[in-house]
Amino acid sequence: MSSTSAYVPGLEGVVAAQTRMSKVDGLAGELVIGGFKLEAIADKASFEEMVYLLWHDRLPKASELADFKASLAELRALPQATMDLLKAVSSKQLDMMDALRVAAGTLGLNAPKDGADEWNAKRLLAAFPTIVAAAWRLRNGQEPIAPDAKLGHAANYLYMIEGKAPSEARARGLETYLNTVIDHGLNASTFTARVITSTASDFVSAIVGAIGALKGPLHGGAPGPALDMVVEIGEVGRAGEGLKKKLAAGERLMGFGHRVYKVRDPRADVLAKAAHEFYEADGDMKLYNLVQDVEKVAIRVLEEHKPGRNLQTNVEFYTALLLHGLGFPTDVFTPTFAVGRVGGWLAHCFEQREAGRIIRPQSEYVGVDDRAYVEVGKR
Ligand code: ACO
Repeated sequence: MSSTSAYVPGLEGVVAAQTRMSKVDGLAGELVIGGFKLEAIADKASFEEMVYLLWHDRLPKASELADFKASLAELRALPQATMDLLKAVSSKQLDMMDALRVAAGTLGLNAPKDGADEWNAKRLLAAFPTIVAAAWRLRNGQEPIAPDAKLGHAANYLYMIEGKAPSEARARGLETYLNTVIDHGLNASTFTARVITSTASDFVSAIVGAIGALKGPLHGGAPGPALDMVVEIGEVGRAGEGLKKKLAAGERLMGFGHRVYKVRDPRADVLAKAAHEFYEADGDMKLYNLVQDVEKVAIRVLEEHKPGRNLQTNVEFYTALLLHGLGFPTDVFTPTFAVGRVGGWLAHCFEQREAGRIIRPQSEYVGVDDRAYVEVGKR
């Protein structure tokens, strides 16, 4: 028997799934992923370990991890049809998330009939970095670089973008980022993936839908604009005036505010710490310090703008700092978020498959219900 509850705009506070993947405590500012406090695992585990943890509910033994890594490395190279498609659509105008979406949609082409979920999951996870790196290089008139099976997931991604193997420190920095964003409760893109999976559709369809949800500037599209905002401000003395102007013009400050967190996003600190060493090594502490100063001013200005709403720094503000420090171009920020988050999306796809029940809420009809039809020529 179904009952109808009151309409909740944006489903705020509505519990729509049970999950063992992550716990987001928005008041304490705490994030638990796969049973670990974020700070206890993000800068230690490899990305493959983190994915294994979510998919299998435990950390792998050494031999299991080696097998998992090898099985992913085998699936990194793109099918010819996917590469041909990327070449056909590559142009300077191509949005990197659109490139990822169209190419990801082809990844189920060779899926076996039996065990399609497991195969698709590994294929999607393994091939995301290859797609993003190839699309980026093609957009810049460069040939894509074939994956190197000797490198781990994160290091190989950097290698395929730049054409040279990264230092251990840079690979570690990226790995920490990917681990930090791998899962985050029932965010919009994860919810999308679960809804699609719940109809007994395939994992490729679920992940293509999730990419579409992540692309939006209110979700994963914020870090590029967040960095642009800081660079535009240029020096902290101009921050108050510049940010107030944006708010007065009805703009949102990118990298601030969150549906769940009412305190500072715990991921901000993990990413700021990871970013520090790159800025220190490069000598660009000016930008690092500017980001921290602009953050303080933004929070003050937002409190004046929306008193009592607790609009605080979210993950995207420091994503911008870390990925910029790692040398990523702005256009590749959101696709790199997807490279990490796809591990969590897929974990939720498996979990939803087990749950088995279609996600099908109700709507409240607010239209009229007694219109009379008038022939087109008489209207
Ligand atoms: N700048 C200006 N105003 C804001 C901001 C912001 N960054 N965030 C929220 N507000 C405003 C809202 O417009 C709302 O005003 P209203 O009551 O007059 O309508 C009020 O503050 C309260 O907003 P919330 O209910 O707390 O926000 P909501 O849950 O609807 O939205 C969201 C959350 C989409 C993240 C929002 O804060 C936002 O747009 N932030 C900027 C974009 C961003 O950084 N996105 C990345 C989020 S993290 C992630 O998805 C990975």
